[in-house]
Amino acid sequence: MKINKAIFPVAGLGTRFLPATKAQPKEMLPVVDKPLIQYAVEEAYAAGIRQMIFINGRTKRSIPDHFDTAYELEAELAAAAKHELLELVHSIKPDDMECIYIRQSKALGLGHAVLCAQCVVVNEPFAVLLADDLMVGSPPVLKQMVERFADWQASIIAVQEVPKDQTRRYGMVAGTPVNDRMMDMTHIVEKPAPEDAPSNLGVAGRYILTPGIFREIAAQPRGVGGEIQLTDGIAALMRREKVFAFRYEGRRYDCGSKEGFLEANVELALAHPQLGPGFRSYLKTLNL
Ligand code: UTP
Repeated sequence: MKINKAIFPVAGLGTRFLPATKAQPKEMLPVVDKPLIQYAVEEAYAAGIRQMIFINGRTKRSIPDHFDTAYELEAELAAAAKHELLELVHSIKPDDMECIYIRQSKALGLGHAVLCAQCVVVNEPFAVLLADDLMVGSPPVLKQMVERFADWQASIIAVQEVPKDQTRRYGMVAGTPVNDRMMDMTHIVEKPAPEDAPSNLGVAGRYILTPGIFREIAAQPRGVGGEIQLTDGIAALMRREKVFAFRYEGRRYDCGSKEGFLEANVELALAHPQLGPGFRSYLKTLNL
């Protein structure tokens, strides 16, 4: 089985990023020169995925617009012979990529958002990417996971070490190592207190899930924060199937938080081939 579909849940309220997210989705906030959602879609594309499923909410119209053809803009750029920019605009949605939009009418939680895609995914394994977790990895993090899936044919959850005082921000996991990066998962708990966390490994926003997850999510009552939690669905799935935790190689920026977003902008600007050198010189003038 191959991963052909990716779900992008983008219907959250983004309250940690108010006021910026009052009328626009946090996934459209740009890091350097690209919106967060574009980084995530590019990561899925690089992993060989061609069907992108967006779980949209209110105030998210700019996301379909971003991946749609912009006829007027393209005509203007063509008329002005701005070929590089035209190519740049075209490349946002390659011809072999399909975008599907599903509306989550109420933000009932990440688990509920994933369940909204069941009618399109039906019976295939699929990826889930949370675009506010911006991942930088070589190879890209989802590609690392898709390669593992080819061998293991089971659900795989991306995890990373997190500081003890931050366990309340993450799903926390534990398991039995099967090799240097993979663990056979035995525990997953949503946002526990540090003393209740089963280890120091927290879930990052990349998942490969088997379709069995839909039945488990559908059976879940509301969990932490009154939301239908994906974590609770995964905990139930673990009782029926193997689920692996995967310590990916790479760096994660929590762009749902203002601090993480600023860090991403600074580090990606410094690494940018055109902007980097000038930006580095500018930062030096600040004498921090
Ligand atoms: P978050 O936990 O970051 O919630 O959701 P949020 O509402 O987006 O942001 P804050 O915490 O209020 O600042 C994790 C992911 O799940 C999506 C979000 O868009 C985000 O990508 N999500 C969450 C949904 O699509 N629907 C929901 O009902 C909840």
